[in-house]
Amino acid sequence: MTLEEFRKEIEKLKSSRKYLYNGSYILPALWIAEKNFSAITPEIMRTIADVLGVRLIEVEEAAEFYAMFHTKPKGKYIIRVCTNLSCMLRGGEEILEKFCDLLGISPGETTEDGLFTIEAFECMGLCDGAPAVTVNEERFLNVTPEEVPKILKKFGWKGK
Ligand code: FES
Repeated sequence: MTLEEFRKEIEKLKSSRKYLYNGSYILPALWIAEKNFSAITPEIMRTIADVLGVRLIEVEEAAEFYAMFHTKPKGKYIIRVCTNLSCMLRGGEEILEKFCDLLGISPGETTEDGLFTIEAFECMGLCDGAPAVTVNEERFLNVTPEEVPKILKKFGWKGK
């Protein structure tokens, strides 16, 4: 998506008149950006603020506050490993470590080939399947360290 196409999408969103306050369109607009760009850049945030007629700081705050938005370039696949209480008690930290070891990166980093970003994540509401992992929209529950390479291979990892 080009920036101009993005601007048109936000204009379309705003013209839906779904909300009374223009600020209510910020999160849906950021979602569109998140889905269509590698990162939500300052230029994208300025476009959102401009089209919605809101202050740039409102857009920046929302983009920085919510963990699901990326203001730095992300990989094609975002691996989120829950490390909150239920998952931690059932080995979430170990699962995170296994992903990091195999990919050679730390939480918050992206592999050199741009394929994977790994994140330690807060509770995803999947506690009954702890430890829980998501890769983009796909969920993996009751994950064991042995399953980690299989999960990665499913998404094109060429490692051991
Ligand atoms: S604590 Fe991990 S999904 Fe809730």
